[in-house]
Amino acid sequence: MQTEARSALPNGTPLRGGEYLIESCLAAGGFAITYRARDCALHRPVAIKEFFPHGCVRVGQRLTAGAEWTEEAFARYRARALEEGRRLAMLRHPGIVVVHTVFEENNTVYLVMDLVEGETLDQYLIHRGGRLPVEEAVGLIAQASAALSVVHEAGLLHRDLKPQNLIRRPDGQVVLIDFGSARQLLPDAVRTRTVVLTHGYAPLEQYSPDGRLGPATDIYALAATAYHLITGRPPPDAPARVNNGAPVFPPSEIRPDVPLVVSDAIMRGLSMTAEERPRSAQEFRAHITRPAGADVFLVAPQRRTQFLWRFIWMSALGGTVGVMAGSAVGNLAHQTMGADSGSVATAWAISGALAGLGLGAAQWVALRRHLRHVWAWPVATTAAASLGNVLGWMVGDALGWSVAGSRDNIWTVTGLVLGAVVGAGQWLVLRGQVKRARMWVWMTMAGKAAGNLLAVSSGATRGSASVKMMCWAVGGVVVVLAQAFCLAFFRRRTREEARRPEPFLPSYSPYGDDSETQPRSGLPGE
Ligand SMILES: Nc1ncnc2c1ncn2[C@@H]1O[C@H](COP(=O)(O)OP(=O)(O)O)[C@@H](O)[C@H]1O
Ligand SMILES: [Mg+2]
Repeated sequence: MQTEARSALPNGTPLRGGEYLIESCLAAGGFAITYRARDCALHRPVAIKEFFPHGCVRVGQRLTAGAEWTEEAFARYRARALEEGRRLAMLRHPGIVVVHTVFEENNTVYLVMDLVEGETLDQYLIHRGGRLPVEEAVGLIAQASAALSVVHEAGLLHRDLKPQNLIRRPDGQVVLIDFGSARQLLPDAVRTRTVVLTHGYAPLEQYSPDGRLGPATDIYALAATAYHLITGRPPPDAPARVNNGAPVFPPSEIRPDVPLVVSDAIMRGLSMTAEERPRSAQEFRAHITRPAGADVFLVAPQRRTQFLWRFIWMSALGGTVGVMAGSAVGNLAHQTMGADSGSVATAWAISGALAGLGLGAAQWVALRRHLRHVWAWPVATTAAASLGNVLGWMVGDALGWSVAGSRDNIWTVTGLVLGAVVGAGQWLVLRGQVKRARMWVWMTMAGKAAGNLLAVSSGATRGSASVKMMCWAVGGVVVVLAQAFCLAFFRRRTREEARRPEPFLPSYSPYGDDSETQPRSGLPGE
């Protein structure tokens, strides 16, 4: 009779009276040995996980409690592994490994599940060069969050989420394996020698024997997994973050192509205190997959002003270049075409288009990481500015004289029309991505009209050309400031909304009995 610590069952070993046949050992962890096996009745491969915690010994095929276990304690934990299997079997979700059955044999517990084709995410990462395109990573994490929320709703915790415990099937579906819940209940003596948490993925509360674990524990691990998939490495482990102040650089700082919304969601999931993390896996999923439109407003606080300044100075720069080019080309067109009103309209259309192109392109640069379909921004701005300039000139000319009886009012009316049309053009892009997007139209219209009015009423310049220049300068500055104000407003609204608590979720109770969740109570050796 062979006596060997933690030896795997030999290939060809039958289980449950020949119903299953062990084919090979897949992995031996600190808590269990996983085999590839054959379901002899259904002729299909399965994965079988044998409960085999550290400290136990195999004698022949039977497990016996080793020196660190009393018979009674081993029996208790074995019963929990069985219970864990039964609970797992109740979960039905494409992202959770299907449990076929669980049974006792060889004085231990066997969990029979689908053999999931594909590779674990850590293997997949290696094949993909260490990190994934952001969209793909977010897709995988969104799937894992959906599965995790099913786990949490059933009152279970995973406790050991990490790339190694997520298998990516060839069709792209992510499957959660290896539920570590039972491990947390191992005796202290065993826990210290057994990997019961994984550095980098485990939040601080998992390091403390009396840390309160809950769904937020898994959310930290999921955020750390997302961090790893996107940046190529897990965040520093939680104790190092506390004790040595090891910084976690936001993913968007490590990789410039990471949208801030994704980076921010991950950073929030990695909050040290559980209360600051999203309250549920669905909430985390909603944050990380939030349409990029809302992103403008989820800029991290320290980057808020930086973002707005960038928008302002880029708009000013692009607008100035555009207006100068538009003015030059517009004047040239006017001169070469003669002085009829068709040529004036063409000149206004050309100068508007170029000014819009300059402004739109610059704003595209500033906004491109924040909005969906942002390519439409310069297109809409160019078209709207061209149209708005012609319309503004026509309406301004007609109304300015007839209503106000003064030439100066042309500019205010023109500003009003131009601002409205440009605001509306840009609104078409913002619409559906931002709450209260309509505000953009009013602010752009009011900003441009007020700016032009200010330019005119400065009174310093009366000549037509200098009024025009003042309107470009002052009107441009005011309209850009008004738009920046809108962005700041949207950002605040979205942030408030993101922080709003999720609808009620059943509170976590893994075994339906609080005393059982205290891993330190009544353990052997105490
Ligand atoms: N259902 C399964 N289908 C396919 N492979 C599996 C399955 N379960 C486990 N494995 C493989 O075995 C390895 C170890 O299994 P796991 O359940 O994570 O145990 P542990 O990490 O506790 O040793 C996994 O990383 C995976 O490669
Ligand atoms: Mg594992």
